[in-house]
Amino acid sequence: MPRALEPAEPILSAEGTPYSPRYDDVYHSTEGGMAQAAHVFLGGNGLPQAWAGQRQFVIVETGFGQGLNFLATWQAWRDDPERCGTLHFVSIEKHPFTREGLARLHAGLQALEPLAQALQAQWPDALPGLHRLAFDEGQVVLTLALGDAGQLLPKLAVGADAFYLDGFSPARNADMWSPPVFRGLARLARPGATLATYTAAGFVRRGLKEVGFEVSKAPGFGGKRDMTVARFRPLWKSRRHAPPLAAQWPDRHAIVIGAGLAGCAATERLAARGWRITLFDAHDGPARQTSAHRAAAMHAHLSADDSLLSRLSRAGNQYALRAWAALRDAGHPVGWHGCGVLQIGEDEAEGEVQRAALAAMGLPESFVRWMSAEEAASTHRAGVPRGGLWFPAGGWVAPPDVCTAQLARAGDAVAARFGCRVASIARVDDQWRALDAGGAVLASAPVLVLANAHEAQQLLPQQHWTMRRVRGQLTTLPAAQVDAIGGWPDCVVTGAGYLLPRAADGTGRVGSSYDPDEGPLAERPEVHAANLARLAGLLPRQAGAVAGIDPAALTGYVGVRTVTHNRLPLIGQVADEVAARTQAGALRGAHLRDLPRVPGLYAALAYASRGLTWAALGAELLASQIEGEPLPLEADLADAVDPARLLLRALRHGQAG
Ligand SMILES: Cc1cc2nc3c(=O)[nH]c(=O)nc-3n(C[C@H](O)[C@H](O)[C@H](O)COP(=O)(O)OP(=O)(O)OC[C@H]3O[C@@H](n4cnc5c(N)ncnc54)[C@H](O)[C@@H]3O)c2cc1C
Ligand SMILES: C[S@@+](CC[C@H](N)C(=O)[O-])C[C@H]1O[C@@H](n2cnc3c(N)ncnc32)[C@H](O)[C@@H]1O
Repeated sequence: MPRALEPAEPILSAEGTPYSPRYDDVYHSTEGGMAQAAHVFLGGNGLPQAWAGQRQFVIVETGFGQGLNFLATWQAWRDDPERCGTLHFVSIEKHPFTREGLARLHAGLQALEPLAQALQAQWPDALPGLHRLAFDEGQVVLTLALGDAGQLLPKLAVGADAFYLDGFSPARNADMWSPPVFRGLARLARPGATLATYTAAGFVRRGLKEVGFEVSKAPGFGGKRDMTVARFRPLWKSRRHAPPLAAQWPDRHAIVIGAGLAGCAATERLAARGWRITLFDAHDGPARQTSAHRAAAMHAHLSADDSLLSRLSRAGNQYALRAWAALRDAGHPVGWHGCGVLQIGEDEAEGEVQRAALAAMGLPESFVRWMSAEEAASTHRAGVPRGGLWFPAGGWVAPPDVCTAQLARAGDAVAARFGCRVASIARVDDQWRALDAGGAVLASAPVLVLANAHEAQQLLPQQHWTMRRVRGQLTTLPAAQVDAIGGWPDCVVTGAGYLLPRAADGTGRVGSSYDPDEGPLAERPEVHAANLARLAGLLPRQAGAVAGIDPAALTGYVGVRTVTHNRLPLIGQVADEVAARTQAGALRGAHLRDLPRVPGLYAALAYASRGLTWAALGAELLASQIEGEPLPLEADLADAVDPARLLLRALRHGQAG
């Protein structure tokens, strides 16, 4: 399967309408894209009336193109005093324009130009997968699904209220109007979902009917006599048809246990949706445990087969950068240093594997490219032994500053209870209770999020979670020693270990060890020595200077990572292990979606060595699940981090009893 996306070119037809040579068709009616959007797509779906008074409304579009339908819908939402609380627009596009291409096509949109510019400002690189963009304080959410509609529709975890079908003409773009696409749409349709498209082609109408839409003709736009409108009213009921519905909560109040990267992000994402949060941490402030260190790097993972980890980490990185930019724009900067990350292989053979992955993926250079050792030395003072992958958007940040910004953004929505350990949790009368060691109720709420890393196992000992504790130690080199070493890189360098560029006080940070968590959590000189050896391996030209440093005189940071069997986190609704055990026989061939879940109980755990990559995306995933909103990830990726996956494995092996 080719990984790279082929972008579209901003070409105009002789009449001045955007035109695709690939499909030999125009992007919208020659009689006006905005007027077509209003008549066919908004009008055909009974919008804006259909979203009036709803808490959330979800539109799914096939074919984002230059986004005129999105812009027209967003503007209609802005203009409507009865608008829904949150408008979700999920759109699939196989050949995205570049940001520059979009800007050229959007010139002259007049009243819509400010919206178009906001869209361009957040426009993603042409990377396969889902990209979530938020506008108007997060009330308008665009989830761009970049890739082929036929392949992506089955992977969307979305419940749709309305559909815009806007492929090119069915005669020239058959794969956008195929039975698999129609089935994919029907799978997402909430009861009574509406659909509109400009075409009245008979096979499209028949195809929609076959998958459960009630189809009718309506007056077409411009030169077209008819168009198609439809409503999802299948004549049959299928147990497997279960698109997520908008959640009904009696009280939007959640308890979050743990105020590290995981818990602070979850707090912020829930607060953004109007939730009140009672946040507990045993320490006397946020980010005082594993998230306490001030030197965390972030870059994506790359593999030739675009593994689950590669896709997840790409999504996590992209989402985190957007989320932090939104915090910055709201006056709460996280202090991100987007200096770029150079990832070198541990040896020449690994370098070859990196090159092969780069070639197989063909991703845009703005995301990742090869950087030779010579370029690294001349442009980033990085005297590395070999070239490697260059992630221009990678960088580093101090996790406590991210946590502080998120809690500040949550503002009055969060009641923080620091210095307060939750000893147990219990569900009583549809409410979760957090209890202290004496059994007194500290707080109760319909939703509880466990964001307390490996300590979650103490609160829920029966879960199949197998979280390991892995000790890690970082070394801080004083400014004078960094001066003495000379030639310190101005980017992050990773390989067998990593180093960060100098902090504002001139210090340099080098990491980090990865050992079983045994003995007291105190810094060990032999680990500082091992970190110095890592530094010498990353910068061999400076090895002599590094050898002169006394590890016994160094300080740094030591913490414990919480790591699952496959290093992927546990994010999502917690499984009801008791109920699953009683039905173990029946669930032996089950899928994740069949497993019983504990109402209102969610996990954001086991962020291992990638807390920055998982925390923001994990929080958005949880909040979307809690609200029944479109997920920001493809379903197979959400499954890969599902906290019930180990229970499922045990059930399949007959070991859950
Ligand atoms: C040496 C080292 C280097 C690292 N480098 C990087 C890096 O470069 N990039 C990166 O992305 N990640 C890195 N990580 C990983 C990253 O730091 C973690 O993934 C992240 O901090 C985990 O966050 P968390 O919120 O899950 O856990 P924590 O930060 O540990 O937060 C859990 C919180 O829960 C609280 N808690 C637990 N139980 C209870 C209870 N019962 N009641 C109340 N409070 C409770 C604890 O007090 C704690 O504050 C590194 C980790 C280490 C150790
Ligand atoms: C008519 S244009 C969409 C116009 C768009 N809705 C707008 O408002 O600007 C059709 C779009 O479908 C996209 N497309 C074509 N085949 C596709 C496929 N198989 N999967 C996803 N998108 C596809 C094209 O690249 C093109 O951008």
